[in-house]
Amino acid sequence: MANNALAQKVELEFQKRFGKEPLLIFSPGRINLIGEHTDYNNGFVFPAAIDKGIVCAIQKNNKDSCEVYAIDKNRSETFLLDHLKPVTNNWWLNYVLGVVSGVQEKSKLTENFDIVFAGDLPSGAGLSSSAALENSIVFGLNELFDLKLSKKEMIAISQKAEHDFVEVKCGIMDQFASMFGVQDSALLLDCKTLASKTYQVKFNQYKLLLINTNVKHSLADSAYNDRRNVCESVAAKLGVTSLREVAISDLQSIEKDLSEADFQKALYVLEENRRVLAAAESLEKNDLKRFGELLFASHNGLQQQYNVSCAELDFLVSCAKESAAVIGARMMGGGFGGCTINLLKATEIEQFKKEVEEAYIKKFYKPCSFYTVTLGKGVFRVN
Ligand code: GLA
Repeated sequence: MANNALAQKVELEFQKRFGKEPLLIFSPGRINLIGEHTDYNNGFVFPAAIDKGIVCAIQKNNKDSCEVYAIDKNRSETFLLDHLKPVTNNWWLNYVLGVVSGVQEKSKLTENFDIVFAGDLPSGAGLSSSAALENSIVFGLNELFDLKLSKKEMIAISQKAEHDFVEVKCGIMDQFASMFGVQDSALLLDCKTLASKTYQVKFNQYKLLLINTNVKHSLADSAYNDRRNVCESVAAKLGVTSLREVAISDLQSIEKDLSEADFQKALYVLEENRRVLAAAESLEKNDLKRFGELLFASHNGLQQQYNVSCAELDFLVSCAKESAAVIGARMMGGGFGGCTINLLKATEIEQFKKEVEEAYIKKFYKPCSFYTVTLGKGVFRVN
């Protein structure tokens, strides 16, 4: 297993700090082939779990409080099960506290516990280290206390933690992909019903390459919530609960009552839903050219209509468009930074990386980073 070294590191740290043998959980990050900002509109997404993520070690203690140690931050925090509320000065702790609080609401935990965790996901790259952390904690608690929560209940707890403790009104894509991922596969997920279809991903002579802008936008969280509010208010104007319920012609019927910016955002969502379904169909037909075109079109919408891109992401996608080796590329995740996802000829990867690396430094005076990823399975117990 690719995460053996990480699991060993976390286990050793736990033994050293707490002198006990912990349960070990691996919880992956995710990529998303296509379908951005559609999940909280009850639409379609096409994500996959990857072989990188978070390992969490957890065990009951006989103390009067719980303790969590984040190896990568070298920070330890204690908390009481009866006094769980968000903190203001420690973003990663809120993911943990939010999940513990959500579990408490379902079934009261009676014993305290210790947690150690670490990850091998590049931070701020848009690979959902937050969902990976949330899922690792809820899965760990479920195992430790034999709570018998279903996977769907667990991801609902993870998502609620992010809503209530981190105050990002995220959709369900990241938590779902991290929990339900299937080896070498992507999941076509209907976010309205949570029904998913597994697609074994074989890109033949093509490969996925992620390029990290290394930009972390500080306004991303509020901009994300703003987008969600716009979509919900357009849906409300149409008398429905989500944009999933409407056709483009419905939207056009109220165009004059909307600002141009809001109309374009809602239109983007409806068009992106169509692109996700078309992308799944093109994978079924092994039509990678079409699949790649849909990735480019998705980026276009995210850049021009939904307004969640940034100069660095746009630059990387334009490099991809110019290269004969790349058949599709787009920004991935919430936006304002993070990675682009590129589908390109495997034999041309090194040359393309070299070209992009040089052009990016020349333009932005800072480096970008490259990752190839393997699609892996969802959260599991390591030991
Ligand atoms: C973030 C959120 C997801 C999803 C994407 C955009 O990753 O956590 O729920 O909305 O942005 O597609």
